Amino acid sequence: MIRLYPGTCEPDRDSSGEGSGFPGINPVGMSVENVRSKFVERFGHEPQIIAISPGRINLIGEHTDYNDGFVFPAAIDRGMYVAASVKEPETLTLSVQTGEGVPFRVGRVAPKFTTNWSKYPAGMGWAITQESGIQLPNLEAVVDSTIPIGSGVSSSAAIELAFGVTWSHLAKLALGNRELAILGQRCENQFVGVNCGIMDQMACALGKEGHAIFLDTRSLDVEYAHVPDGLTIVLCDTKKERALTTSAYNERRSQCEEASKLMGVGKLRDADEHMLYVNKSKMTDVVYRRAKHVVSENARCLKFKDALAQGNFGEIGLLMKASHQSLRLDYQVSCDELDAMAQAAWASPGCVGARMTGAGFGGACVALVKTNLVDAFTESVLGLYKLATGVQGEAMSCKVVDGARIVEA
Ligand code: GLA
Repeated sequence: MIRLYPGTCEPDRDSSGEGSGFPGINPVGMSVENVRSKFVERFGHEPQIIAISPGRINLIGEHTDYNDGFVFPAAIDRGMYVAASVKEPETLTLSVQTGEGVPFRVGRVAPKFTTNWSKYPAGMGWAITQESGIQLPNLEAVVDSTIPIGSGVSSSAAIELAFGVTWSHLAKLALGNRELAILGQRCENQFVGVNCGIMDQMACALGKEGHAIFLDTRSLDVEYAHVPDGLTIVLCDTKKERALTTSAYNERRSQCEEASKLMGVGKLRDADEHMLYVNKSKMTDVVYRRAKHVVSENARCLKFKDALAQGNFGEIGLLMKASHQSLRLDYQVSCDELDAMAQAAWASPGCVGARMTGAGFGGACVALVKTNLVDAFTESVLGLYKLATGVQGEAMSCKVVDGARIVEA
């Protein structure tokens, strides 16, 4: 059974989207219309239902979630749209960006049944079936994305959540978004084979317009933090697609587990600087550095929460820079392109803070930028990045939006 976590400050949102406070349709592009017309083109009739899940950026708290630590993501107005209708006997999927999925019978395919992108809807259907014991309906479905491919803003969690709300609605399961997030993580861990934490699914599920999400990944308590007026989140895409992530990610996770075992704690969340110091000789240099990143990143995440609440831009900038350096030097998940982009951001007008965001090894940096200087920032960051790498990056201003929901049914 899904654990329901006490003490959260928000009631679980019903996946129907009612009462979510979402003001309407995602402002980016015409994707609701796009996904509908692609559905009609592919299947020859109107869809029964259209759902959306946002992607996410993470302001700070990186590689802390599978250590029971703190994270600070926000759902952004780049997302996944799913148009679907019930159709037996098997589920047929088409991604506008990546093509036809492998057909599957929902709930009846075994983990790792395909490497095609349709492992995400198949895995979500599998996780919901495992949890509820209910035979879900098969679907015809089209997925359209406004998430830049390979940029590390959680396209997979967004697909899981968009299909999660779709199936929950069609099968009248009324699963809350928090439960769907937990099932999304189960899909990744047990069906897809990525040993990820819970941050991405919780961010896509529990996003709130104008607010970042301070999440304690141990209790799953959520505190919403208003993104200060006058600040804009800018996603700075290096255009280096994330590569080799699964093996390197799983390796980082086991190094953290080794460190916590050597220090005699359940999770690195329970370690502090003093414990690191006294146990250093028990650890290899690499394992020590992994643990040092996690311990210091948890502390930075807590300090960041206060700095954001106080509008202390100087502190925000220092913490984001320190986070990037720790990920680069100790956790070793950055790359030349991410370092070049972060440096370009730090040197650009209006930048309050910037760092790599997400798992790393490519993808994007996130920058907090003074809204009145976003144009100057964008021109400068892309110019400096191109000078350093020869590559044309992309900078996208993001709005912070609500989590996954049904937009039409
Ligand atoms: C990926 C994972 C998350 C988290 C981040 C790093 O996005 O899916 O669970 O571990 O990397 O912070």
